[in-house]
Amino acid sequence: MIERRLADAYATERLGAALARSVPWSAPQSLTVHLHGELGAGKTTLVRGLLRELGVTGTVRSPSFTLLESYESNGRTVLHVDLYRLAGSADVASLGLRDEARPGVLLLVEWPERALESLPAADLRVRLSIVGEQRRAQLEPASAVGTAWLASVGAETPSQK
Ligand SMILES: Nc1ncnc2c1ncn2[C@@H]1O[C@H](COP(=O)(O)OP(=O)(O)OP(=O)(O)O)[C@@H](O)[C@H]1O
Ligand SMILES: [Mg+2]
Repeated sequence: MIERRLADAYATERLGAALARSVPWSAPQSLTVHLHGELGAGKTTLVRGLLRELGVTGTVRSPSFTLLESYESNGRTVLHVDLYRLAGSADVASLGLRDEARPGVLLLVEWPERALESLPAADLRVRLSIVGEQRRAQLEPASAVGTAWLASVGAETPSQK
């Protein structure tokens, strides 16, 4: 597990960018990150930093109502899901996430606890929490691929605790 203090929104974006730089794209399956944290904890901000680092230039908006936004960059696909407004687990099935499970696909899920049983298992769990005006991030691997991924992120992002 690694833990980082995020002093402002830019720091949250930079952590997303660090994750982006070490995505294990050569893994034989798609990759899944579960993003936990209360309303306003910075989940979408982290996704924005990650997508920018991957070369996505357009607007990165929260898929609060659409549940899913899809991005393509350099032959990679990033699926950004926000399940906060999920009505029922049938909704998750209708997103077709399992059909998207292939190498070169990264799935980022906000509010995964809304439908854990219907989602692909996490490789990485990111927990964001609000600490005063700032945020704290805890990153925890949940698969072998996630363990390797997190080791690179940990090496790249100095701890300021
Ligand atoms: N480290 C930080 N310090 C202070 N503010 C931050 C930090 N990271 C993000 N923020 C700010 O927190 C606000 C909410 O961020 P964001 O929309 O990313 O949260 P979220 O977790 O996606 O919320 P939701 O559950 O509603 O989707 C934004 O204004 C963002 O700029
Ligand atoms: Mg959000």
